[in-house]
Amino acid sequence: HTLDMELEAIEKGGYEHFMLKEIFEQPRSIGDCMRGRLDANNGRLVLGGIREYANKLINADRIIIVACGTSWHAGLVAEYFFEEFCRIPVEVEYASEFRYRNPVIKEGDVVIAISQSGETADTLAAIELAKSKGAIIFGVCNVVGSSIARTSHEGAYTHAGPEIGVASTKAFTAQLTVLNMIALRVAHSKGTITESRYHELLVELENIPSKVEQALKLDAQIEHISNEFKDSKNFLYLGRGYNFPVALEGALKLKEISYIHAEGYPAAEMKHGPIALIDEEMPVVFIATRDSSYDKVVSNIQEVKARKGRVIAIVTEGDALIPQMAEFVIEVPRTDEALMPMVSVIPLQLLSYHIAVMRGCNVDQPRNLAKSVTVE
Ligand code: G6P
Repeated sequence: HTLDMELEAIEKGGYEHFMLKEIFEQPRSIGDCMRGRLDANNGRLVLGGIREYANKLINADRIIIVACGTSWHAGLVAEYFFEEFCRIPVEVEYASEFRYRNPVIKEGDVVIAISQSGETADTLAAIELAKSKGAIIFGVCNVVGSSIARTSHEGAYTHAGPEIGVASTKAFTAQLTVLNMIALRVAHSKGTITESRYHELLVELENIPSKVEQALKLDAQIEHISNEFKDSKNFLYLGRGYNFPVALEGALKLKEISYIHAEGYPAAEMKHGPIALIDEEMPVVFIATRDSSYDKVVSNIQEVKARKGRVIAIVTEGDALIPQMAEFVIEVPRTDEALMPMVSVIPLQLLSYHIAVMRGCNVDQPRNLAKSVTVE
């Protein structure tokens, strides 16, 4: 038994929990995901697993993304990315809903299935259904040789390495990396992106590991903030555009491991309901980085402040305005708005981790949850 414990300590590589180790692995896992695929200097982007069916993707009238949990959030970010750069309409579906509603699928439709484990029962069933109707399936999986990887026609692995913590962290950022690479390849082939924008995004993608590295340096500050809010009963996470799915993911992380009730919302929808919840007890996490919706998010922050909500804001470094309004400000490095989720999610992962530890929760194996859900 002590041997098992020692082995586990070795596997954790000096970290107290697998989740923390996996959060800190992200600069490397994102780098591993791009290795041999992306060469920004030479404008090269090669995805070995997408060949024969590449044209199906390039010529798709629409793309259906199916996934569950955190992988579904990665799908939502991908929706924004594919629509912006490839000009292909995207629908992001919970696999469990999609499979039971007699969905409209026609021969040649393109489905992207996202799954860390590659074993999620609902996702597997959804793609089998789509496949039986003639759809082409692209799998984005982390586990090599998993059921979803094998059932897909083609795909791309995330290569994040084994993820042990039940709450997904490094698999999420690797999924975003792969999905961004797929979309950029498609956009480039279709000519829906300018040469200069394409190169700019390749370079910026290559810089993401070092930006994530920088974001991880916020750990001590986030631990301090966590201590302030560890006893909160509720949390609201708000973001717009590319940061809206990040708000959902931040709330999910907190629910999963700290058991605090949290909701993620598009910031503009706050006025249609959640604003009624805001009082001096309510922490509101804004993902408010410098992007095209910045000014609107600033107004949303003011609305929360006016109702005495406690604002924690994730901002781009050097932001001069939001620090005057928010109670706590977390500065992340600047990057392209379309790639920001890979950076802005880092402080949210750390926040949920520290709050859960402070509450004495079992971070790596939260109650009632499983790493891989092979039953429906
Ligand atoms: C479970 C896990 C989540 C995961 C979801 C989808 O609920 O606890 O972390 O996001 O399944 O899993 P998949 O392996 O398909 O990505």
